[in-house]
Amino acid sequence: MKGVVLAGGLGTRLHPLTKVTNKHLLPVYRKPMIYYPIEALVQGGIDEIMIVTGGNNAGDFLRLLGNGKEFGLAHLNYTYQEGEGGIAEALGLCRAFVDEDKVAVVLGDNILQMSIKQHVDSFREQERGARILLKEVEDPERFGVARLEGDRIAEIIEKPKDPPSSFAVTGIYFYDSQVWNIIDSLEPSGRDELEITDVNNFYIDQSSMQYSIMEGWWTDAGTFESLRRATELVAETGANNPD
Ligand code: G1P
Repeated sequence: MKGVVLAGGLGTRLHPLTKVTNKHLLPVYRKPMIYYPIEALVQGGIDEIMIVTGGNNAGDFLRLLGNGKEFGLAHLNYTYQEGEGGIAEALGLCRAFVDEDKVAVVLGDNILQMSIKQHVDSFREQERGARILLKEVEDPERFGVARLEGDRIAEIIEKPKDPPSSFAVTGIYFYDSQVWNIIDSLEPSGRDELEITDVNNFYIDQSSMQYSIMEGWWTDAGTFESLRRATELVAETGANNPD
């Protein structure tokens, strides 16, 4: 299984912190934000990783991460997203890298308390389809939210005004090689982006989406409040702890 960390975007919700640097290079306790999703993949047993960056300061990722020696990697792969075409567009840039393999995707501003190893292993065993991780949160309207029917996810709604549950869709996604054709078939959303939620709903409609509820804390770090929360949580317990 290949790994992808999505670290593009302009991070406008964090201005002026992101005026002269990329959001994923900002500090979260003792490390730059992007260290945590890379460590999550490595800790999960994935050692072929591509970073998608974009916007300004893309060269700083290479200066910071090099070939990933600090993470125990032999090399790191990089690609560049022009403009703000959305998470699904950014993932689409990794097609040649992932090829026919499965892929684990982590959003560059998502930080987790616990290892994702058990979920990586579950997806290795899953014959086909996709897998997402859900987490119960107090502010679901900030995220993609799962509408559940019994044990089944019926639909994901992106940033709903009236959330159908308190289960947020976290930014850790697992896909089989069908994902490339799905991305090709997407139309831009109202905010003119290719939405990862549309990819996930495609798998749901095919009845090939599985999910788990994540243990431990999970947070994004893309707003002032969540960045502060991320820093406090990492300082208290550390991230990507093995089971
Ligand atoms: C993105 C996804 C959303 C998901 C969230 C997790 O939102 O669109 O479905 O719940 O990441 O962090 P964004 O942070 O890009 O607004």
